[in-house]
Order: sequence, then structure tokens, then C-alpha cells
Amino acid sequence: MIKMTELTKKFAGRDFLTLQDFTPDDLGLFIAAARELKARQKAGTPHPLLAGKTLAMIFTKSSTRTRVAFEVGIHQLGGAGLFLSERDIQLGRGESIADTARVLSRMTDGVMIRTFSHAEVEELARYATVPVINGLTDYLHPTQALADLMTIEEHKGRLAGLKLAYIGDGNNVAHSWLIGCSKMGLDISLACPAAYEPAAEILQAARANAAASGGRVSVGREPLEAARDADVLYTDVWAGMGQEEETSKRQAAFKGFCLDAAALAAAQPDAIVLHCLPAHKGEEITAEVFEGPQSVVFDEAENRLHAHKAIMALLMG
Ligand code: CP
Ligand code: NVA
Repeated sequence: MIKMTELTKKFAGRDFLTLQDFTPDDLGLFIAAARELKARQKAGTPHPLLAGKTLAMIFTKSSTRTRVAFEVGIHQLGGAGLFLSERDIQLGRGESIADTARVLSRMTDGVMIRTFSHAEVEELARYATVPVINGLTDYLHPTQALADLMTIEEHKGRLAGLKLAYIGDGNNVAHSWLIGCSKMGLDISLACPAAYEPAAEILQAARANAAASGGRVSVGREPLEAARDADVLYTDVWAGMGQEEETSKRQAAFKGFCLDAAALAAAQPDAIVLHCLPAHKGEEITAEVFEGPQSVVFDEAENRLHAHKAIMALLMG
């Protein structure tokens, strides 16, 4: 049984901007807390760890999973979530990030933000006196990677020593995967088209993490090579939010970077298939693989709820 109050003492007041800010042990504790909260919710055991607390949730991009997971999650923890669309708050009319951070810090117990610029999220965290949680930027998607690590651990019983293959864009999700895998001792093998590789500094950080954890990091151009003997297969959309005008250019560049039956055949026979969703079936993943028996994408989506609850409970408790 996890002692949630002990964990809360350890993490209270911290921000959750990137997995890089946490040690492998820390990340293991977040995953253990998420699994504990999942078990309590499934058993119908109340867990009002954030009774009376409020999370402000700023969104300047669309969301289904992240929004619902945070909003339902804080409710299940006994608190309340405030959905703040950029269209409705003064931030959208030019009020500064710094002022918004200081106002929200006077009224709420935590701020979650999904937006374009990672630098803005860092600025928000600098000015806020309450924890700030990164719900996705163009650069990183750390809450996704945490929930996905939890999903892998549930299905595989371990993390270190597994191989994850990521086929597609070296984007925000790939960046958080590079950090997450390298911290936790997984091997990560990416296949990305030329000019769509992950950022050099992320690769550098991941290689340094891997040297400490025993993982390995590789980036190539061949999806089947990346998928060979993988325990986990992962992909994400070819064009993310804010890249809509590049869609046709990207469709050409990413042709063949697809999680399909051939990739599945190259992987371990018991490999699991993950996708952060939403998916564009027929592009980065075939409908056959998406709907097939090795796909655990809806377990993965559900685990956003449990992982986000753990993040909130430990930071805001
Ligand atoms: N995977 C993910 O973050 O989904 P949403 O965009 O629906 O939040
Ligand atoms: N890479 C995608 C992830 C969506 C959850 C995007 O940024 O749109």
C-alpha cells in the first residue's frame, strides 16, 4: 500500500513541466501513486486527497483526453476544475502570462496549461506560486508519457530492459518518450523521416539519461528496423495541432511511416500497440492494427485519468 501522504510531502509545490525534472525513482513513485489511485477508484474507495482545492485549466489548443482526465480527476479527488479557454479569459486579449500566473496563484491551488509555446509555460511557472502542470506544448507532452509508462508497466510488469519503437514525427510526444524511456531504462528506437527528427538537445539529454539508466537511444529512417523485436510499438499523427497547413507536405514526407501489419510482424509476438490519440487511421496507423488484439490504446487513454490524478495529488496535496 502506497503512503500517499508521504509522497505528497515529497512533491508538494513542484511543477510538472518535463519528465527531465524528475529522477527515475520519482517517476516510479508517480506511476505507483497512479496505480494506487486507479485501484481505489475501481474498488469504489473514496480518495478525497484534494478536498476543497481548485485546478485552473488553461487551454489554447483542443483536447478531449487531457481536459476530461484533469477535470474528472480533480472531481474524484474532492476538488474542482475550472476550464479556461483562451477565447474566454483575458489572456486571449493580451493580458500577460506573468500577470495571469500571479492572479491564478491567488485564487487556485494549481494551474494546468495546454498551449503552443513551451517557453510560455516556463514563464507561467516562473511567476506562479502554485504548481504548474504542462498539459502539452509544441515541444513536450509529459503527462502523456507518464500515463503511457504506467500502461506499459501494467501490461508488461516492468519497464527497464523493454524496447519501445516510435514510428513517425520527432514531435512533442516523441520528445517526452525520449526522456521517459531513457530515464526508466527502456531502449527507444525511433524511425523518423529526414527533417522530422527530434530536437538535438532532447536527444542529447536522452543519451545522457540512458547512460545512467542502462537504456539505449537510436534514431533512424527505417520503420521496420525500429520495430524489430520491440515490446512496445508507438506512433502519433503526422501533423499535430498547429501544423494543419503543412498537412499535404507532411503526407508526402511521412508516406510509409505507418504502424502496420509489417511493423507488428517485426516486433515481439506479444508486443503492445500504443497511440496517444487522436489517431488518423490509414496514415500513421492502419485500422487493422488500431483495432487489433495487440492494441491497448483505450487502456492507455483511461490511464491519463489515473496518472493525472497522481500528478495533482502529489503536487497540490
Ligand atoms: N492524447 C491527448 O493528449 O489527447 P487530447 O488532445 O484529446 O487531450
Ligand atoms: N502530437 C500531437 C499530440 C496530440 C495529443 C499534437 O501535438 O497535436
